[in-house]
Amino acid sequence: MATYHLKIVGKRDEGNDAASLWLEVPQDLRGAFSYRPGQFLTVERDGDGGRIARQYSLSSTPEAHRDLRITVKKIDGGAVSPWLVQDVGEGQALEVQPPRGRFFRGFDEPRHVLMLACGSGIAPILSIARHLLAQDAGHRVTIIYGNRTPDAVILGDEVGALAESHPTACHVEQVMSRAGESWHGARGRIDKTFIETRWKDWQAASHGLSTSIFLCGPQEFMDDAERAFVDLGLALADIHRESFDLVLNDDDGEPGLTLVGVNDPGESGPCERIVAVVGGEEYETVPEEGESILAALIRAEADVPFSCQEGTCASCISKLTEGSASVRPGVLQTLRQDDLDEGLTLACLSRPTTRSVRIDFDEI
Ligand SMILES: Cc1cc2nc3c(=O)[nH]c(=O)nc-3n(C[C@H](O)[C@H](O)[C@H](O)COP(=O)(O)OP(=O)(O)OC[C@H]3O[C@@H](n4cnc5c(N)ncnc54)[C@H](O)[C@@H]3O)c2cc1C
Ligand code: FES
Repeated sequence: MATYHLKIVGKRDEGNDAASLWLEVPQDLRGAFSYRPGQFLTVERDGDGGRIARQYSLSSTPEAHRDLRITVKKIDGGAVSPWLVQDVGEGQALEVQPPRGRFFRGFDEPRHVLMLACGSGIAPILSIARHLLAQDAGHRVTIIYGNRTPDAVILGDEVGALAESHPTACHVEQVMSRAGESWHGARGRIDKTFIETRWKDWQAASHGLSTSIFLCGPQEFMDDAERAFVDLGLALADIHRESFDLVLNDDDGEPGLTLVGVNDPGESGPCERIVAVVGGEEYETVPEEGESILAALIRAEADVPFSCQEGTCASCISKLTEGSASVRPGVLQTLRQDDLDEGLTLACLSRPTTRSVRIDFDEI
């Protein structure tokens, strides 16, 4: 996808090998870079083996900040995060793709929004929480923020400030797994036992509103938390998760899932035409046999959003509007069956099964 150079207009050391970077969006790019809270930017740079792209959630909130902000935790030996945390600075520009992702889509009515984050997973959670509280729409927000020690906390001042400025609507609790004796707050890991123990308190905090869950942190923590909430009776559709470190399970040999276009299921047969809608423009191509929808579009030089091409970064989320496709089952590590029922998919994991398909990258 086309990338744009955004100037770094601020950088803050967040301690514990993390940094926040503020990026200025020129007036003529404001439309392309408008975003929903919880969305991410894809940062690109040249590496030894070619182009490298990594995703970073926006920790800023559209209605509160003019500039965009990402908050990056350094991964030792990593190709991009050490460079962002240590090397780049104010006045330089980052090459980025416009915001993508559908972690948060908004609510039609007041909800109790229970958000569980670990480490840098606080970035999109903070963005969404600030948005919900600024709306003044009757939402209640509970943030449970886990870290190993108090020194490891990123953006802790901003999370605390949210609770202070919204004492009735927002409750924040920090949980440390390896804190010393000076820590007087909650201790332990945010796991199934922790969730079961706290569930009654969280229900009381909901004031009768239905609960929606948002999870962001290591894969194992989210799997465990999701199981706990399902066992407590929550529907999967009310549990939203964003993964920073997804590895696709080996789904080779498993039958593909059937995806049907929301407007028209199409006529089955070898695909002769893929039409993609991106940024209001239409691109058309003919796929080769066995090719994914994304691969065919990239080959045709369509300006589609993508990065990993293997179902882990979520950049290529799109909606099949016409025709049908077979989707690798690994898609369910990112999307829900409900999403597939609405035509949503990852284009890199989807192969057309009808003569013609139409896929929309804007409607996500
Ligand atoms: C949708 C999305 C949003 C994201 N948002 C953020 C964010 O807001 N802040 C942020 O800091 N990161 C975020 N990430 C993670 C980020 O994209 C990179 O994966 C991360 O910075 C590591 O990249 P790297 O190039 O430095 O390391 P790589 O060169 O990719 O990896 C180096 C080594 O570290 C391991 N590794 C990679 N990621 C992790 C990890 N998270 N934990 C432990 N080991 C790891 C790899 O397996 C590899 O062995 C997000 C990822 C996704 C998909
Ligand atoms: S390109 Fe990364 S999920 Fe499809």
